[in-house]
Amino acid sequence: MLKDQIKVLQEQIEQERQSITSKEELGAFWQKHLGKAGSIAELMKGMRDVPKEEKKTMGQVLNEFKGMVNERYEAMKKRVDELELEKRNQAEAVDITMPARIRPMGGLHPITITRNEMVNVFAGMGFDVFEGPETEDDDHNFTRLNVQKNHPARDMQDTFYLSPDMESILLRTHTSPGQIRVMDMKKPPIKVLVPGNVFRSDSDATHSPMFSQMEGLVVDKGITLCDLQGMLDQFVKEMFDENVRTRLRPSYFPFTEPSVEVDVSCFECGGKGCSLCKHTGWIEVLGGGVVHRQVLENCGIDSSVYSGFAFGIGIERIAMLKYGINNMSVLFKNDLRVLKQFQSL
Ligand code: PHE
Repeated sequence: MLKDQIKVLQEQIEQERQSITSKEELGAFWQKHLGKAGSIAELMKGMRDVPKEEKKTMGQVLNEFKGMVNERYEAMKKRVDELELEKRNQAEAVDITMPARIRPMGGLHPITITRNEMVNVFAGMGFDVFEGPETEDDDHNFTRLNVQKNHPARDMQDTFYLSPDMESILLRTHTSPGQIRVMDMKKPPIKVLVPGNVFRSDSDATHSPMFSQMEGLVVDKGITLCDLQGMLDQFVKEMFDENVRTRLRPSYFPFTEPSVEVDVSCFECGGKGCSLCKHTGWIEVLGGGVVHRQVLENCGIDSSVYSGFAFGIGIERIAMLKYGINNMSVLFKNDLRVLKQFQSL
């Protein structure tokens, strides 16, 4: 009997729908019961054998049953959709309490920080910046700076030569060749800084075969040693603080006359004397002086009209003073434990 078949099927469906939780199971359910070859379509076929007078009511019963199964199906679909969404949400859940991934960040090297700061101080006094080549020729590094061939002053700086003849091409031993290059390009008034790496075969606690200097050159009418002293005083005050003492010592450079060496009080011992300052209480940070007439003339500048001063500051020395570093090699080893301390500067 069709009625009995409906009843059996209904019970079966009620059972089945309890366990449907996925789209696939739902699809299978639809095929099994509501699809073209499904159980309900099968029941519809059974209508043929129903006696005529019962056809109308049986048809209604069957239609109601089909409607009910459809409703069940829709309700299940809604539930399955919700379940699937929940599953997806769980899979894609973001744990906002999870610590963020730390991305390593670089920072400026203490020498770069120091150089930038030095440039800033001098830029405030109106200096431009020029950068010359690290590979120089003998002419710029020595001869036109008034250091003749066989001049004993060439021994003051142990030179790395690059050319086989051991004299023409070399690694610049100082930034002073920058003076020549600037004066070749530009006539006075000149007020320029030449920062850069320099090379000497020297190595101990306060020397390294490569280090950096900052050359300064001012050429104009009426420039004297007092202008140099005034600017350096201002520089030291801005770079450090009022407590750092400086002293000028007479010195000798072939390209300046008179020449001076400027020391600052030793930061390690406060001036009492220690191994760092070689028991003098002072650390030399720069050499300078009034530009030698011959150097001006070598660059086509009339030394009876113009005069100038020049200085060369050791950038590492300034960095060591500023940050209390007592061995220069610390600045070249690039130990991350050291470099990290400069990241926020
Ligand atoms: N070039 C000199 C040195 O390296 C420093 C210096 C620069 C001296 C300019 C006088 C003038 O020692």
